[in-house]
Amino acid sequence: MRILGLSGEYRPTSKSGMMVNLALDYARSKGAEVIFWDCNEKPLPFVGEDGCWENANVKEFQSLAAECDAFLVCSPEYHGTMSGVMKNTFDWLYDKHVGGKAFGLMSTLGGIQNANTLNHMRIMLRWLHAWPVPEQLSVGHVKEAFDENGQLSDPKTVERMHSLVDAVLNTAVMMNSQDE
Ligand SMILES: Cc1cc2nc3c(=O)[nH]c(=O)nc-3n(C[C@H](O)[C@H](O)[C@H](O)COP(=O)(O)O)c2cc1C
Repeated sequence: MRILGLSGEYRPTSKSGMMVNLALDYARSKGAEVIFWDCNEKPLPFVGEDGCWENANVKEFQSLAAECDAFLVCSPEYHGTMSGVMKNTFDWLYDKHVGGKAFGLMSTLGGIQNANTLNHMRIMLRWLHAWPVPEQLSVGHVKEAFDENGQLSDPKTVERMHSLVDAVLNTAVMMNSQDE
């Protein structure tokens, strides 16, 4: 089981990057092989930018996505929806890379927790023929959500994250068994 983590913010140290990495840590503890796509280290150009179709990072990203069984994703909410970085990352993916594969969705917000970004990502994934699991996690007032060790302070949030990752792993096993 191979899981790819995607963040809608460049830095792995951003709150969304931290969320993805915590979710990946838990997936690893359950026996999955995990990979975090670090946009800071390997940026993806804007779709349509000069030379983008031949970009080495894009090619690597698409092959990696095609080789992965499931995805754990977190986007910051910007102006009521996913960030441009998140959308551009998804714009490099097609049915042939992610179709029929499980996704776990998370979002971080500066303000009050809501499901806008999660719902927008869910709708978008329909066009990629991907399978976001019903469980999801949105963390409001995210600046206060982590302790000094970079762990989520609220045990209920941790529990929700674990349920989300468990659902992604179980769904991926189910999807893989159908392919056999
Ligand atoms: C351009 C921009 C737009 C934002 N819009 C919202 C918003 O609509 N609602 C909200 O609660 N927070 C908003 N925020 C705050 C971010 O959601 C928050 O800083 C982010 O989730 C923190 O995660 P990050 O460190 O991964 O960026 C916005 C921040 C920026 C930079």
